[in-house]
This record gives sequence, structure tokens and C-alpha cells, in this order.
Amino acid sequence: MSELPRRRYLAAPVSTVGGTLSVPGDKSVSHRALMLGGIAAGTTRIRGFLDSADCLATLSALRALGVRIEQPGRQEIVVHGTGPPGLRASAAPLDLGNAGTAIRLFMGLLAGQSFSSTLIGDESLMRRPMERVAQPLRLMGARIDTREGRPPVLLHGGASLQGIDYALPMASAQVKSAILLAALRSRGITRVSEPAPTRDHTERMLAGFGAQLQRQGATVEFAGGQTLRGTEIQVPGDFSSAAFFIVAGCLAAPTGLTVRGVGVNPTRTGLLDMLRLMGARISVTPLAAAGPEPLADITAYAGALRGVAIPRELVPLAIDELPVLFIAAACAEGETLVTGAEELRVKESDRLAAMAQGLAATGVQCELLPDGLRIQGGGLRGGRVDSHGDHRVAMSFAIASVRAREAIEITDVANVATSFPGFPGAARRVGLALDEGGSS
Ligand code: S3P
Repeated sequence: MSELPRRRYLAAPVSTVGGTLSVPGDKSVSHRALMLGGIAAGTTRIRGFLDSADCLATLSALRALGVRIEQPGRQEIVVHGTGPPGLRASAAPLDLGNAGTAIRLFMGLLAGQSFSSTLIGDESLMRRPMERVAQPLRLMGARIDTREGRPPVLLHGGASLQGIDYALPMASAQVKSAILLAALRSRGITRVSEPAPTRDHTERMLAGFGAQLQRQGATVEFAGGQTLRGTEIQVPGDFSSAAFFIVAGCLAAPTGLTVRGVGVNPTRTGLLDMLRLMGARISVTPLAAAGPEPLADITAYAGALRGVAIPRELVPLAIDELPVLFIAAACAEGETLVTGAEELRVKESDRLAAMAQGLAATGVQCELLPDGLRIQGGGLRGGRVDSHGDHRVAMSFAIASVRAREAIEITDVANVATSFPGFPGAARRVGLALDEGGSS
């Protein structure tokens, strides 16, 4: 990576933000484009690729599995898919860094191969739960070992997989996607049903690679043994990265802050509904899309926000945006209650605990619940926040500075590069007063 890791942000209060920016490509779509391109027959060209540490971990793992991949530009990737001859064993364990999506989707991709694979990651990833994927894959016939439910994950080669009917116990697109990827190499039909809608990028992209799958209500049905054909993929701007600037706009952009070319797949945009419930003024202008993912320009305007009880059904549609929603809640008038968000406990950090700690450190009254937060609005003071190495916690508190009364110092921010390389520069361009430092 060209950028040196920075360990600390110092964000001073500002009076307003505004202007226009675009954000890097979608992380979920970039991982999937590489993986499906890697096993498809023929060439896949990816434009708008997210050139971040997480997606580069997927790229390196695929190379180690024998896929030839070129990167003619930072955001342009050409994948020469292996097609039916398939992937080859990697000589070394596959290191997926900080990337939960990569490790879980690779479990599905590698479970039915003739060779064995070992999957590992950084300190945060080595603590994250993997049985949620291992269990349904074992029901399909895979042989998988985890260490007390966590990585390293050992996938034994030579298992022959069979389709299953599986009801997901939690709303997780990663688990759903891992099962669909394993289903590609299975005999018979696989049906996965979800307790609440989650991001459907895998389903949309499989169809783009020529696969047939059906959705009926909460169930996706997929026949095994289908061959994918290489395709062209335009990756939209990542809604989860845009989210930081949408909230910044709601807090401090009297003439509006616009994010251009953002993916607005309805399984991702729950934050817009939440902010509108709080009284935010946000306009969404649809653009012509070059593929299965809808695109739009989004403009957010400053206005008074009021605290609300967030409807639980919106939570899975904004699962990665809740940290920055908590910042909006801290700046609103009155109390905001978020429940049904226990999944935040098993993200890159325990995001409920990390955000509660950061809010308390910046003078916000906040109660940590088993599955959410109760936040008293009224604004932030400022102070020192430990991001716990979590990119979204770090960026959320950087955004909080637009309404804080004093500066916010945020430590342990190097992992911002896992999802949003260039975040500090983008933030400064729209008016944040963000300095980076090399030590904490
Ligand atoms: C993702 C799914 C979500 C999300 C993650 C990306 C994906 O995780 O939090 O950042 O690309 O499928 P879960 O499946 O654990 O909810």
C-alpha cells in the first residue's frame, strides 16, 4: 500500500461543511467481484474496484489459489477466471487480514474443493465467530475445524457437498453468501431463508455471471453445478463510506453536502430512513446504472434532528452505518434508542461497547444495552477516543468533530485503510479540520 499507516486523528470543530465528493468503490461488491471472477470461465473486468487493504487481501488469496489477476490501474482489475479446471491449493495459509467478509466467503468458496485450505487473519479477525458459517457448511457435507469457533479455519479437501434447506439463525449476508458459494459446488438444490432482508449483492452478481437463482419471499433457491461466465462489473461508490459524509451533511452543511455515484441498493440504505425519521433533509437523485446495483447522487442538508426509537426492522439494512448514526443521535434533541443490534458486538470490534465508550469520553450520556444503545442528545464536548482499531468507529468520531465543542483525538486509526483509503483527504475537502499523526 502506498499510504503509510497513521495512528491518530486530531479533529477540531468547524462551523460548516459542504461541497461535493465521491467515495471509493463498494467493499462488499469488490470482494464478490474478485471471487466470482476468479472461479468463472473467461475474463472479468472490474472498474471502480476498492483498492483497500481488505479487498487486496482477497486479491492476494485468489492469486495464491492460482487465479491470474492483473491490476492495470488502482481501481481497475482484470481477473482471468479458472473456470471448471478450478482453483489450486495454496502453499501457505490464506491471510485475510481484517476482512470478515473475505474469510467467511472464502469458507463457502473453498469448502467443496479437492484440496485443503487454512484461513487466518489479524488479531481482530482471529477473535471473530466462524461457526455461524461452519455449521451450515458441515450440514452440506464439508469438513471444517475452527479453534473454539474462531480462526484459524481448516477446510479439509475432498468433501462432496449436497444442497441444503437452511434457515439462517441471524440476519447475515456473509453467512448467506458463503452458503450460496458452497452451493455452486454442491449436488441438488440449496434454499437459504433469512430472518430479515440483508444485502443481496451475491444474488445480484451471481445472476450477472449467468447463474439462475430464484427468490421467493425470504428464501433464495439455487441449483448446484452451474458454471459462471466472466463479465464486466462497475463497482458503485460504497454507501457505507458515503454514510459518514451524509451524516456530516445532516449535522453541518447548510447549503448541502453531495456524495456522487453511490450504490443505493435498498438492502443497504436503512440509514437514510433512520435519519429521515429523525427529521433530516436528504435528497437522492437516481443515476443510470451500468449493472445490477442501483446508483444515485445523495445530498444531505443541515437541520435540527430529534431523537427517535429506531425501528428494529431497519437495523440489518444499516448494520455498518449504526456507529455514525449514534453520532447523529448524540447531536439530536432528545433520546434515541437503538435495539436489535446485537450483531454489532461481533464486528471488527464490539461496536456497541466501543461507541458507548467513545460517546462517554466525549461527554455524551449513553446507556449500553445488551443489543443496542440509549443515547441522550444535546451535542458532544470533545475529548480522546480509542477506536479499538475499528475503521468505522474511527471515522464516526472524526465526523462527530463537525459538531463538537472541543477537538476530538482518535487513536488507533490505521485500519481506516481497510475500507476507505484517502478518508482524511476526502474529509478535509468537504471542510473537516482533520490532522493525522503517526503516534498515539
Ligand atoms: C457484509 C455483511 C455484513 C457487514 C459487513 C459486510 C458482506 O456482515 O457487516 O461489513 O459483504 O456480506 P454480516 O454478514 O456479519 O452481517
